[in-house]
Parts: sequence; C-alpha cells; structure tokens
Amino acid sequence: MNGLTKLSRSSKLVRMRRKRIKEIFAGWIAGERVTVAGWVRTRRDSKAGFSFVEINDGSCLANLQVIAPQELPNYAVEILNLHPGAAVTVEGALDRSEGGGQEVELKAAAVKVLGHADPLAYPLGKQRINFERLRELPHLRARTNSFGAVARVRHTLALAAHRFFDERGFLYVHTPVITANDCEGAGEMFQVTTLDMKNPPRLPDGSVDYAQDFFGKRAYLTVSGQLEGEAYACALGDIYTFGPTFRAENSNTRRHLAEFWMIEPEMAFADLDDDAELACDFLRYLFRAVVDERMQEIVFFEKRVNPGLAGKLSRLAVATFERATYTETMTLLEKSGQNFEFPPRWGIDLQSEHERYLTEKVFGRPAVITDYPAGIKAFYMRRNDDGRTVAAMDVLLADVGEIIGGSQREERLDVLEGAMLAAGVDPGAYRNYLDLRRFGGAPHAGFGLGFERMVQFCTGMNNIRDVIPYPRAPRLC
Ligand code: 4AD
Ligand code: MG
Repeated sequence: MNGLTKLSRSSKLVRMRRKRIKEIFAGWIAGERVTVAGWVRTRRDSKAGFSFVEINDGSCLANLQVIAPQELPNYAVEILNLHPGAAVTVEGALDRSEGGGQEVELKAAAVKVLGHADPLAYPLGKQRINFERLRELPHLRARTNSFGAVARVRHTLALAAHRFFDERGFLYVHTPVITANDCEGAGEMFQVTTLDMKNPPRLPDGSVDYAQDFFGKRAYLTVSGQLEGEAYACALGDIYTFGPTFRAENSNTRRHLAEFWMIEPEMAFADLDDDAELACDFLRYLFRAVVDERMQEIVFFEKRVNPGLAGKLSRLAVATFERATYTETMTLLEKSGQNFEFPPRWGIDLQSEHERYLTEKVFGRPAVITDYPAGIKAFYMRRNDDGRTVAAMDVLLADVGEIIGGSQREERLDVLEGAMLAAGVDPGAYRNYLDLRRFGGAPHAGFGLGFERMVQFCTGMNNIRDVIPYPRAPRLC
C-alpha cells in the first residue's frame, strides 16, 4: 500500500465522524464525544497547563473553543506551534465552558495538525484587515468572519430564489453563456474568439474574417438570458433563469461588476402589473428567508458595517412598495428643490442620486417606477399607447438603488420591428426572436434581479466587489 492510499483512508474517517460546529451549538450534551475539523483562529496558552485554541469550520460565525491540555503527546511540539490558519482535527468531549463568551467548549483528547500555517507569512493574523486589502486575497478572505458570513447569506438567497419560483410552478431554464445577440442593445459585450489576435484572418477590405472564427461569426458573453428565456416562456408558460451575465461597461462604482449573476423570470400571458406584483413578492420572500435563516450573520453585519440592518430587513419582508410612473417621478424630482448633480428633466435616465433621494427621502420605502421614455430603454419593451413611453419597470431600494429592471415585452411583430430599426438593431439578426411574435405571439413580461446587489443590500456591505467570491471589474481579474 502506498502512502497516498493510506492518507485518503484516514481523511475519509475524519469526514464521516466530523461534527460541524454549527450542529454543536444547535444542541449538545455534556460529555458527548465529538470530532471537529477546522482552521485555527487564535491560540492562547494558560500557565495552568493548557492552551485555548479557537477554531472555525465555516459552518457558522462562531468559533469553537478547544481546551488542549499539556498532557497531549504532541503538546510541546505541535500545539505550542499552532498559529492562525492551521488546519486541525480535534477529538474530545464537550463540556460547559467556565469562561465567559461561550457556553460550550471541547476538551481535547487528541489534536491532529493537518496543515501548519507560518505566522510570518499568513496574511490573516489576529489584527483586523480592511476590505480593500482583503480584495487582494480572494483565495483567503472567505476565512474571515465577514466573508464567511457573506458566503452563507449568498447561499441562503440563492436557495430561496429557487424555492420561490419552484413553489410557483416556474421552470428553471439554463440559457447560454455564449451568445451572438446583444440583449440590451448597449454594445457592452465581451467578445469570445479563438482567432489569433496577432494575426487574424482578414477579408479583402482588411476587416477581420469572423467566418473563420470558432462559431463562424462573432460571439460574445451574454449580458442577459432574457431573449432565450422569452422563447422558453412562450412554450412552457413561466420560467426563470439564474446564471452569470457579463457587461463590459467601464463603471468603477460600488454597485457595478463586469461579471454578475442575474435571476430572470419570464411569464407568458402576463402584463406589467403582473410583473410588478411578482417582483415585489419575490423581494419580500428573499428578505423573509434571510431574516428567518441568517439572523446570526445579520446581527454581525449590523454591528460591523450597517447599524439597523435587522430591523430594516424585517420591515421589508412585509413592506408594501410605492408605485409611481417615471413621469410622476420626474415631476417630483423637478419640484424637490434639491441640488442634484444631474438636474432632473423628462427624458433622462434616473441617476443613482435620484433613486436614493426617492427611496430614502420621498417614499421612505422601496418603489416600483414604471413607464419610462422609450428612448432610454431597450428595444424589446412594449410601446405604450401614448407613443412616447414603454411598459418598463425598475424596482428601487434605498442605498443600492436599482435592484430589478423589467418590462412587458413587445409582442406585436410590426411594432417590434419598428422599435428595432429605431434603435439601430438589425431585425435580420433576430429572426428567431421575431418568430416568437410570428407564431402565436402572446403578451409576456419578465424582469432581471441583480443577485449581487441583493446580497449587498441584505448584508449591508458597502462594495459589491465584496459580495461575490472573485469579483471581476475593470482592471480586476
Ligand atoms: O436592468 P437590466 O440591464 O435588465 C436586463 O438585463 C433585462 N434583460 C432583465 C429582464 O428583463 N429579464 O439588469 C437587471 C439588473 C439591474 O436591475 C441590476 O440590479 C443588475 O441587473 N445589474 C448589475 N449588477 C451588477 N453589476 C452590473 N454591471 C449590473 N448591471 C445590471
Ligand atoms: Mg436596468
């Protein structure tokens, strides 16, 4: 038997018997024998002949305190050389803790060091590191309290999203990551190519010959799964997508990523009102899930980054949303007497300063703004009878601003073709999309929720780059 086989056998044993720290805190009995596995956060040596070793296994915020007595055979050689970051398994018995701060501790009968961490080299020592510096350590930052808590909230939100749609009979559809269309028509796409950038094949006029590229034409990373989602909604009724989307917009803000995840439901036989109702129900459901399932993390974020977070999320779980048209909103902003950087005027897009003023100062609650000018919205949105607005909606939250963008889709073939031409989009490139109108065109509507903005809001983290494991942004990959 070689060493490798032995190793995998023994680690399997640990895995089978190991108890998560979260499970211990959920219920334990004095004297209960357990094995835990995790990473050392701190070690303190007592003169009374033992060491306190705090370990964290990622299952919850709290560390488990281990009492390692000097009688352990590896005490002098290994325990006294344990430093933050080391991986260990501890076997022992649970007992009521005599010290303050925790109710239970683990009296170690055996501590096995799986991997040491050099205290001079390990960047996450005892002292607190700011979020900017941690962004340079994406592979290690999940070991901190803040990023572990973000990961758990993110997980809860993702599962709750799937649960919400499943409970309502929506089918989960996997739309492609690589696509040839530009859904939002904004030209902010990352190109995908296997051509040699130094020496691409060229046409006689000198332009690149994409017929020789991998897909036989230009291809991109998707900015939205909507167009493909519409096709499935126009067959299956109610669907949703949940996947990564990519935008090559040069926005260096705390709300923008170049790679982010979007949840996009699409409903056949639905109009803008149905869409708005679904969006509000969905948001309340997500807030409820975080409040019910992640209160420990919320209380932590409340102390660390966002005072009042728990109360805010609890209120939002039952909130009614303000509803106003874009035109009403513009009038409100114009009359506000506020000194905005972008003076409000009918026809411009709502800026984040406007969104925040509305949700935080005017409405005091989240808002659904509808019926935007056609000129500032995508070609696929349904024209209203007034001839100048479309059946669009944005849902705004305090602090993060736009969390959801959606619309009723243009189901009338001639109107849609007209809108495409007006937007400089070639209808010939969207034959399949137009087919949905040609064959059994039905009213339908949907929206997209920016998943990271939701995680950002629910954790109170200031920068969106800190709520996705590996953020992608201009000059950051
Ligand atoms: O408003 P957007 O662009 O809408 C769409 O993409 C539609 N196709 C959705 C649909 O109707 N199916 O984007 C939707 C949401 C925004 O409200 C915002 O929350 C988020 O996606 N978002 C971003 N999040 C992080 N970084 C970016 N660069 C984002 N751009 C949009
Ligand atoms: Mg939008």
